Amino acid sequence: MLKTQTGRNKVSSLTQLIGFFKPYKFRLLVAIFVLIIAAAAALALPIAIKLIIDQGYLLQQPEKLNRYFILLLVIVAVMAVFSAIRYYLVMWLGERIVADIRSTLYQHVLKMEPAFFETTRTGEVLSRLTTDTTLVQSVVGAGISVTLRSTLLLIGSLVMLSVTNLELTGLILIIVPLILMPLIFFGRKIRRLSKKNQDCIADSSAIAGETFNAIQVLQSYNLENHYSQRYNTSVENAFATARHRLMARALLSAFAIFTVFSGLMAIIWLGAQWVQEGKISLGELSQFLLYGVMVATNTASLSEVWGDVQRAAGAMERILELLKSEPAIVSVVSTLSIPKAASEAISFKHIFFNYPSRPEQHALQNFSLTIKPGETVALVGPSGAGKSTVFQLLLRFYDIQQGKININGQNIAQVEIKKLRQHIAIVPQETSIFAASVLENIRFGNPNATDEEIKIAAKAAAADEFIDQLPDGYHTYLGERGLRLSVGQRQRIAIARAILKNAPILLLDEATSSLDAESEQLVQHALEHLMQNRTTLVIAHRLSTVLKADRIVVMSHGEIVAVGNHQELLEQKGLYARLAALQFGDVD
Ligand SMILES: Nc1ncnc2c1ncn2[C@@H]1O[C@H](COP(=O)(O)OP(=O)(O)OP(=O)(O)O)[C@@H](O)[C@H]1O
Ligand SMILES: [Mg+2]
Repeated sequence: MLKTQTGRNKVSSLTQLIGFFKPYKFRLLVAIFVLIIAAAAALALPIAIKLIIDQGYLLQQPEKLNRYFILLLVIVAVMAVFSAIRYYLVMWLGERIVADIRSTLYQHVLKMEPAFFETTRTGEVLSRLTTDTTLVQSVVGAGISVTLRSTLLLIGSLVMLSVTNLELTGLILIIVPLILMPLIFFGRKIRRLSKKNQDCIADSSAIAGETFNAIQVLQSYNLENHYSQRYNTSVENAFATARHRLMARALLSAFAIFTVFSGLMAIIWLGAQWVQEGKISLGELSQFLLYGVMVATNTASLSEVWGDVQRAAGAMERILELLKSEPAIVSVVSTLSIPKAASEAISFKHIFFNYPSRPEQHALQNFSLTIKPGETVALVGPSGAGKSTVFQLLLRFYDIQQGKININGQNIAQVEIKKLRQHIAIVPQETSIFAASVLENIRFGNPNATDEEIKIAAKAAAADEFIDQLPDGYHTYLGERGLRLSVGQRQRIAIARAILKNAPILLLDEATSSLDAESEQLVQHALEHLMQNRTTLVIAHRLSTVLKADRIVVMSHGEIVAVGNHQELLEQKGLYARLAALQFGDVD
């Protein structure tokens, strides 16, 4: 479960962004340089205006007036060009970095073990990938640009102010902290509310994702209203937190605008008197006012951005939570590989295992089994006996608590997970079809396979006939989760995939359970061919499959209760005989 941190670690979570900036150091430097030029031009503007008023206008010197206007034009042109470059560079950085964050996050989540997905809803992860990264983008792009520019202009105009007139500057320095204090206070509140808001949004995406995946069940049980309400509640929660956030933000704006402009008015009032008294020139007052306006507007935009920064900090925290969740199954860094051959192809030695979510219940207990190379072993037993669990452990989707699993004599915990999984092909109990063409779906078994090899595999899986009848044959798009295929057809695609993988160990989890008798015979035939020179573990509910196995292992409650061939096991009159009578129909 993803934990949502509270308290500490406010905006500091954004410092984690620095790492993402590293590859673009040069661009960042150029952007900052351009930014400084644009800001300098903006700061020079009031000086030009002062010169125009005092020297050109008041002293009636037309040639100077013209010169100063040209100067003004140059300054404006520099400001325009450099602002445009700044905009492009900074926004580019924002887009680029968010793209990188998304890819990094996705890559990270792909490494997570199945247990992670048992406790984390996919919609939740999706929301972090999309909405949270978008929020961060708003800060990385526009936010940083505005912050840097406004800070520079603020400091610059304050400096220029004090050069122009110290007394008036003193007044401004009293006003600025008055604005900053509530800014920080409200900022904290906004960040908290923003994070809550994002959590609510993630919750609603999770609900939507879950229901779209099971739309038929939902509709057949007439649950549309129920789920509409649940979704609605969740959306309303998001709205309520958003409203709180907006309120805090609105208050903040009102406060900032009022303090800034009333301060400015105080200065104008004082300055106007000084001009009348002849203490300062009209040009000086104009220059001062322009700098004063700069201080005001830049403080205001900083307060605005501060709110965004707080929001983004909340989003970044959520992204970091995901990035920091470590995969529980870690691949060792090792050069060891699985030997080509050994006297024991697979051996389970005294395995004790429970799923992380059920610490008190053993899914496998003292499970020991040795399988010879090329042997076909059938696992049978009642539902929930632990058959599929055996496969999960062999693929190292979970780590065992006690015991050892060897493949060709090599402990699987000591080889890289990638190498281990290359060694095994599985046809799982629930097949997964991807939103791609038939060709691409089978190609999952071996990304380097040619179209020809894929077709051979499909033929071997007795799938070519139905594929040929699809609208575009092998190029037919199968739709999300393969919804456009029947269950038996999906199963044959999965079998073709496993055939294509051509791995030394084959795991079949009720691979033919959804096929009619005729297709099953065809697939059986293909599978037998496939099993010939490889080690096969098959979970079977059908007699025909069981009969072909070299050995049958009977499981119950995570333990092996009997091992033998069909005849021997029937004679023992134990669990197998009962299962056989019930499941396989009339035997003997
Ligand atoms: N991801 C999981 N988290 C917690 N418990 C699990 C998980 N998967 C399976 N179990 C539990 O482990 C036990 C063994 O499950 P397993 O899937 O191995 O059964 P099975 O023999 O394959 O059954 P079936 O014939 O119905 O497929 C069951 O009690 C099941 O509830
Ligand atoms: Mg199972």
